[in-house]
Amino acid sequence: MSNNIKKIAVLTSGGDAPGMNAAIRSVVRTCAYHNVGCVGIYRGYQGMIEGDFKEMNARSVNNIINRGGTILKSARSTEFQTPEGREKAYKNLCDHDIDAFVVIGGDGSFTGAMLFSESYDFPVMGIPGTIDNDIYGTSFTLGYDTALNTVVEAIDKIRDTAISHNRLFFVEVMGRDAGHIALNTGLGAGAEEILIPEEDLGLDRLLESMERSRRSGKSSSIVVVAEGDKIGKNVFELKDYIEDNLPDYDVRVTVLGHIQRGGRPTCFDRVLASRMGVKAVESLLEGKTHYMVGLVKDKIVLTPLDQAVKGKSKIDRELLRVSDIMTT
Ligand code: F6P
Repeated sequence: MSNNIKKIAVLTSGGDAPGMNAAIRSVVRTCAYHNVGCVGIYRGYQGMIEGDFKEMNARSVNNIINRGGTILKSARSTEFQTPEGREKAYKNLCDHDIDAFVVIGGDGSFTGAMLFSESYDFPVMGIPGTIDNDIYGTSFTLGYDTALNTVVEAIDKIRDTAISHNRLFFVEVMGRDAGHIALNTGLGAGAEEILIPEEDLGLDRLLESMERSRRSGKSSSIVVVAEGDKIGKNVFELKDYIEDNLPDYDVRVTVLGHIQRGGRPTCFDRVLASRMGVKAVESLLEGKTHYMVGLVKDKIVLTPLDQAVKGKSKIDRELLRVSDIMTT
């Protein structure tokens, strides 16, 4: 690997996700392995604008592989949306002799990197870090597997009390506009219904499903609702709707919220992060730029960043069919 890249920066941007620390660790250690300098940038692009940088070495990332969150913190930067902000960022990178950067984040973070490259010819590599798993070019984004396990564990706990009180629970999960978390955790936790933005089941279908559950002798039910679901009502309105139409249901709501963003990353996420960090740094050292590393058929591959940003990860129709059958 030889080109004129002598120092690489790494930053985390957008919503944090478990596994980001493992990815930071991998980028820093791969730089050290190849005798390339590494700089951590705090608070994403806002820290790039403010020059909030810290030299990193192999020891700087001790004992973080098992920690949720990101030691570099994360932020969303409106200033980076301005040419002036991006100019300040570019100047800081040059002043610190940084030759390339790795951004760990979601599609918004990659859009920022594309915007930056419209003004500055600067090598960049993306690592998909978001619990939403909504990025084209990878079957798993960092944090997704951990979030799935966090949510399934939470729903299992909710089911205990639902059974004890013969209740119907609406459980809202994250995912922004994607239903991956809802679909997989609904299936994994044995939910009676799963509402996702990709499949508008409609309120009538929900009523029928709840009546069918009741008739089949189920004394309690769990309905997992993706926060981006388009059924037209939020989970609290769904509760009211069911109570108005099926008065014998005792209904409660749980919004899992940001608990889904925390927690110790699973082994899967730690290994994925380690693989992605190596690929990102070594691709830069091979002279490649403007790609996102991703997991496709268990191989770590590169997808052009503009495709990763424009594309959308599709919901697995086979999984939808399985979940339908499981609610029999
Ligand atoms: O993109 C990750 C995510 O957790 C989404 O699932 C959620 O809608 C959003 O971030 C919440 O953003 P914030 O942390 O800014 O409230």
